Amino acid sequence: MKILSVEGGRPLEGSIRVQGSKNSVLPIMAASLLAGGETVIRNCPDLSDVDVSVRILRHLGCAVRREGGAIAVDPRGMDRSDIPDCLMREMRSSVVFMGAILARTGFARLSYPGGCELGPRPIDLHLSALRELGAEIDETGGRIICRAARLKGGMVRLATPSVGATENAMLAASRAEGETLIFNPAREPEIADLQDFLRKLGTDVSGAGGPVISVRGGGPTGGAEHTVIPDRIVAATWLCAACSAGGRVELTGCIPEHFESVTEAVEALGAEVKRGADSVSVRVKRPRRAIRPVSTAPYPGFPTDAQPILMAALLRAQGTTQFTETIFENRYRHVSELRRLGAEISVDGTQAVLRGVKELRGETLTAPDLRGGAAMVVAGLTARGETRVVDAGHIARGYESFDDRLCALGADVWIEHKGKGTYEDASQPDQPAAFQQARRV
Ligand code: UD1
Repeated sequence: MKILSVEGGRPLEGSIRVQGSKNSVLPIMAASLLAGGETVIRNCPDLSDVDVSVRILRHLGCAVRREGGAIAVDPRGMDRSDIPDCLMREMRSSVVFMGAILARTGFARLSYPGGCELGPRPIDLHLSALRELGAEIDETGGRIICRAARLKGGMVRLATPSVGATENAMLAASRAEGETLIFNPAREPEIADLQDFLRKLGTDVSGAGGPVISVRGGGPTGGAEHTVIPDRIVAATWLCAACSAGGRVELTGCIPEHFESVTEAVEALGAEVKRGADSVSVRVKRPRRAIRPVSTAPYPGFPTDAQPILMAALLRAQGTTQFTETIFENRYRHVSELRRLGAEISVDGTQAVLRGVKELRGETLTAPDLRGGAAMVVAGLTARGETRVVDAGHIARGYESFDDRLCALGADVWIEHKGKGTYEDASQPDQPAAFQQARRV
């Protein structure tokens, strides 16, 4: 188990390059199964979810090499169509391998995916999209078995613009016979990134970002090279961290329009923002003020993943801010922990009302999930004394060297290991050994 500690009260100062996008690299790694040769994926963040994807690819028989931020995948040796339960449970994105494996081999055997517990996370839309393309799917005893001797193009109508279901439909359709139209697809930038990658593999796909995606399937061509887009949720996190701690932070290597809804919120709370072509800088002086109601929505709306993090940045803002969570049922699990710092937040169903307080006091908190964990660290930056975040391994699923990057900006953050667990391993069981402070920067 990992514990991340932060001593609040230091403003952030400096420049930070935004890492590659987790939610882009994972489906692109799955898509690499469809190549006819080696693909090289660049700007891959160093995250535990990426490690899991590498393990899945190797399990399937692919040759995978990693060099710095580049991952090379050669699927020509692929000789399996299953994903073991232990790898499925590690992350939500394991489910996007379903469409790719099925498209490549005509068969896929897996189980239900893990990932952050944000309330029910069904995969009915993934399965109905694959069925529409001709897959026969059998769900028994927690196992999902998909068969399709031949996938055929079809009309996929998504009741909700699910990111994962859109990706699975695109992956399966890219090896189906004829044209597939995906109606009401997710419009997130990660979908456009997957489209770009599939085009490099020779798939005729268009429409990402709009109301209908068209995919014309084809056989595998050679390999491809691709650079993953910057992570908009990580960029949003750095903006919110600067708002919480105060100071001046410049984000480089980002695509500002991808997180404009968060930048606008940050501006409204009192930050001075400068937008460049691939950079955003913020300067934050106290006092911060509450902002207009924030309602999460599919892209280009306010991202649900940034909701806990913006909330953390507003804990000491003057006035009351109202949040509405429309995507996931259980995405306020961070609230009870933030209250322990002295935050005033009430929750009623999908609504949360935050009343800014003058002061927060450090406490020991438990990260409930990836973004909730990041939110606690962001809150800790402005709390008096030390905030300890237990189960901080969740954070390593989405943030590359979170502690080091914060330290580089001037924060006082360090990692404690409890027993034999490591930073990267959120699921490592507790060991009885005494707390050991491993590192303090
Ligand atoms: C992706 C992101 C996650 C983000 C979420 C919403 C990845 C790896 N994760 O998750 O960070 O929070 O988008 O932006 O990219 N739904 C169904 N049936 C389905 C699938 C989804 O009802 O078969 C519902 C979900 O319960 C949820 C909504 O659709 O209410 C959106 O979920 P979805 O877009 O699928 O999220 P993920 O792809 O899991």
